[in-house]
Amino acid sequence: MNILVTGGAGYIGSHTCVELLSESHGLSVDQLIIIDNFSNSKPDMLEKVRAIAGRDFIFIEGDIRDPGKMNALFDTYAIDAVIHFAGLKAVGESTQKPLAYYDNNLTGSLVLFETMQSHGVKRIVFSSSATVYGMSNPMPLREEYPVSATNPYGYTKLVIERMLMDLAQADPGWSISLLRYFNPIGAHPSGLIGEDPNGIPNNLLPYVAKVAAGKLPALPVYGDDYDTPDGTGVRDYIHVMDLAGGHIAALEYVMRNRGVEAVNLGTGHGTSVLSIIRAFEKACGHAIPYTVTGRRPGDIGTCYADTEKARRLYGFEARRTLEEMCADGWRFAKERY
Ligand code: NAD
Ligand code: UFG
Repeated sequence: MNILVTGGAGYIGSHTCVELLSESHGLSVDQLIIIDNFSNSKPDMLEKVRAIAGRDFIFIEGDIRDPGKMNALFDTYAIDAVIHFAGLKAVGESTQKPLAYYDNNLTGSLVLFETMQSHGVKRIVFSSSATVYGMSNPMPLREEYPVSATNPYGYTKLVIERMLMDLAQADPGWSISLLRYFNPIGAHPSGLIGEDPNGIPNNLLPYVAKVAAGKLPALPVYGDDYDTPDGTGVRDYIHVMDLAGGHIAALEYVMRNRGVEAVNLGTGHGTSVLSIIRAFEKACGHAIPYTVTGRRPGDIGTCYADTEKARRLYGFEARRTLEEMCADGWRFAKERY
């Protein structure tokens, strides 16, 4: 079977491509085709995917908003299913550049879905986010809870989910997984691929790793007055290799079933910022300086997944520990940062 991965040079995409190319699952991937415009990634990640997997794939440098390019791609390769990662993902930046987010994420998805439809390709796994649960649902978050958004990035995920639900409603031939990721962290155990954001990181783990590597002086801890065991924010961190495995399980599911399903990918456990710092200190072997600052606007105290649906539909369960997440993340960061 032939799989198209959009945004395959990025953080989650590169790890998922390694899994797709491995023989360790029930899918038989004949051709893997990746399209990426490198707007948030570098070409060397793809060379490393090749090196880890020991197998080749087809790479097309291009933008998924380009209908000519997308049509040519679908004309050339007989695609069976798509995993759609390509998009912009920084919440803060989306409030500064809303039109760039609406254009990239919505136009890109629309062109992709139109091209799929015109070529009769109706199987897709889409990168949604736990951000669609908004700020007022009880924990753990269940897929049937109401969705909402508080920033342009979140709205793009809501609208793309809606587009795909409407498509499945209009044509029961579609088979769609909307994967709501919680907080992916860590790296491939080889240390060759991982998360490498440009500039000062927005997310906790790359920030902690840059402090651990001596590239930034201290971690700002955004608030210690939440209603959590130690007062700092609690999130559901999932190893990126477990997340990659979740995509394989979702792909197996869409190959066998019709319709649309939103599914959480998390561990079901919450970890505080201070616990992350302690776990990363163990991994890197030295103290990580931090300063407690005020809360970050838009943050909630606690967020973690109900994982029952992923288990029931996909037989998926995240297995890797927080220690592995930090050890693997540090192995990558100490070489790369
Ligand atoms: P990433 O930025 O590392 O990867 C996205 C990739 O898509 C990059 O390689 C980028 O160059 C490419 N891309 C962006 N726009 C493109 C376009 N128009 N055409 C072609 N390529 C394009 O991000 P990631 O962390 O790997 O996230 C992947 C997906 O998962 C995104 O859709 C993101 O919104 C979603 N997601 C991520 C997280 C997270 O914490 N990392 C959480 C929830 C959801
Ligand atoms: N935090 C700090 N200091 C930092 C960065 C983060 O204390 O420098 C804290 C935050 O306040 C929060 C926790 O660490 O309590 C995690 O923050 P992240 O920014 O790493 O992650 P978020 O949970 O805020 O958001 C991430 C993605 C969103 C996605 C969401 C759910 O950035 O796009 O996970 O998947 F929607």
